[in-house]
Amino acid sequence: MQQAIAVLDSGVGGLTVVKEVMRQLPYEKILYFGDTARTPYGPRPADEVIAFTREIVNYLVQYRPKMIVIACNTATAVALEDIRHRHNLPIVGVINPGARAAVGRTKSGIIGVIGTEGTIKSGAYDLALKRLSPHIEIVSQACPSFVPLVEDGNFRSAETNQTVLESLSLLRNSTMDCLILGCTHYPFLAESISEVMGPTVVLINSAEETAREISTILHENNELAGKDEFPVHHFFCSGDARKFQQIAKTWLGDQIRLTPVIWQVPHIGV
Ligand code: DGL
Repeated sequence: MQQAIAVLDSGVGGLTVVKEVMRQLPYEKILYFGDTARTPYGPRPADEVIAFTREIVNYLVQYRPKMIVIACNTATAVALEDIRHRHNLPIVGVINPGARAAVGRTKSGIIGVIGTEGTIKSGAYDLALKRLSPHIEIVSQACPSFVPLVEDGNFRSAETNQTVLESLSLLRNSTMDCLILGCTHYPFLAESISEVMGPTVVLINSAEETAREISTILHENNELAGKDEFPVHHFFCSGDARKFQQIAKTWLGDQIRLTPVIWQVPHIGV
């Protein structure tokens, strides 16, 4: 049995990371958990997010994955170290990869960060960016209304465009040249965000860099799936499975058609 890469998020956001992992590592098997019954995590206190993350990781390790990817910035910000201490397998977060990608792209040295209230309040991006480049200037803002739009599959409506415009109105006046999408749900709104920020601002989606980090770790551990492996992915969610499936199919499209998908809905402490 092929060992999977287990990926988790508060909902559908982590699928943006899954899409990139499937693109870069097409032979890898994915085990995904979206906690759609308890999303959003952003407004929740840190200890609650830590408790939920522990619970999901405990669920996923039953399947003996070779790695856990916390594809949620809010959970990465507060729970990554805790999970690393509790489990003896590689645990990858999304904040350092996102920060690395932005520092590699910026020319002006001014970087914007948008994320959930929890992520912005944690200061995790400031820390990660300053560690990489101490003189970087950071402009950050929480966008709490974005995640509910994405969970509703409302990616490109007039309501979405208006919400994005209002939420980013202050950031538009900044001279940043890169904007980190510091929540894995936000790439679903990338077109709208890009329209508001204009062509001079590059949107940084941590998925690409995260998938590279996954690939490097698997390579170093000699755990990359063989080219003859045909992966069967498993997607779990704690809430409405039909809604989740619809969004996953819209987002993953071809990859879903290419590989058989088994949908299951475990009920964990909701
Ligand atoms: N997608 C998650 C993140 O990257 C969580 C969003 C939420 O549940 O508030 O932060």
